[in-house]
Amino acid sequence: MGGLILSIESSCDDSSIALTEIQTKKIIFHQKISQEKQHSVFGGVVPELASRLHAELLPQILEKTQSYFKDLKAIAVTTQPGLNITLLEGLMMAKTLAYTLNLPLIGVNHLKGHLYSLFLEKDSIFPLGVLLVSGGHSMLFEARSFTEMKIVARSIDDSFGESFDKVSKMLGLGYPGGPIVESYAKNGNDLAFSFPIPLKSKKKFAFSFSGLKNAVRLEIEKVKSKTMDLERFKADICASFQRVAVEHLCQKCNIFLQQNQKREDKEYQWRHFAIVGGASANGLLREKITRICENYGIFLLLSPLEYCSDNAVMIGRVAIESYMRKEFDDLNLQAIPKMQTF
Ligand code: KG4
Ligand code: ZN
Repeated sequence: MGGLILSIESSCDDSSIALTEIQTKKIIFHQKISQEKQHSVFGGVVPELASRLHAELLPQILEKTQSYFKDLKAIAVTTQPGLNITLLEGLMMAKTLAYTLNLPLIGVNHLKGHLYSLFLEKDSIFPLGVLLVSGGHSMLFEARSFTEMKIVARSIDDSFGESFDKVSKMLGLGYPGGPIVESYAKNGNDLAFSFPIPLKSKKKFAFSFSGLKNAVRLEIEKVKSKTMDLERFKADICASFQRVAVEHLCQKCNIFLQQNQKREDKEYQWRHFAIVGGASANGLLREKITRICENYGIFLLLSPLEYCSDNAVMIGRVAIESYMRKEFDDLNLQAIPKMQTF
């Protein structure tokens, strides 16, 4: 076996470790233990609980990788963005391993990880336009190369995934909200409620989900005083909310693709567009963006469903690029909860 990178992900509520072969990019080992159940009773992630669970779960997973330690060439870990105290759990483990095994350390940006979930076990494609939708972020950016990411639009308040989590919480459906709301929506009438599409007439090139969330909240408050079929109501709310949230993303993506087609700096013009991040698993979003890309003759790239949400495999894939470039960090590597560079 060739040299391996051991990668660790603990930026939120998934404890995950992977081993990837550097030369072939092959995934040798991966385990992820999701903490969803433990957080669902609180309707969202409790950072202190997440941190304590990482401290318990990461060593359990690490133990299974011990027979590969002799083949390790580097230790990679997510350092930003994320929850400070959960990032620190992974970082402490990574530093201990790097120090005791005398291996280089590689700090990885989590969002770049989501981007590279497109390129697991294969080569990357640049330049490309990207829609990133996760629990913490919603943004459009141009990935021009491994080191050059140009953010063109972000959310001015909540993220796309977060708005699903909040709608689910308001309806008492559980956490994480994305898959739950999506499955309720399948049985609902998406025109039952005419929520306004955020920033529709505004020139501002950005995302916003808090107004939509409030519109949903007002409908839920109204219903408390009525007698009606609650299951039908929940399904209709989910379907109508999802339709509008996806429509909002699609409108901005349309503009992004249009601008790309008309651009003068042809060297940056992309022929591939990607959706990445945990919420890129959304079926309606995938379906609508597929159609938009077809209209523009752009190839759509999607991550495999099992690697859309947080995982250490995507972190290992980024680390291969850093390793090849000999870009290493020292033991002073810090956790950065709010992203600064990308
Ligand atoms: O990327 P991710 O695993 O974690 C962060 O980096 O934040 O994304 C998790 C987010 C959660 O907000 C979750 O509700 C959302 O992605 N999500 C979805 C779907 N699956 C997960 N949102 C909408 N539709 C889905 N099918
Ligand atoms: Zn993520």
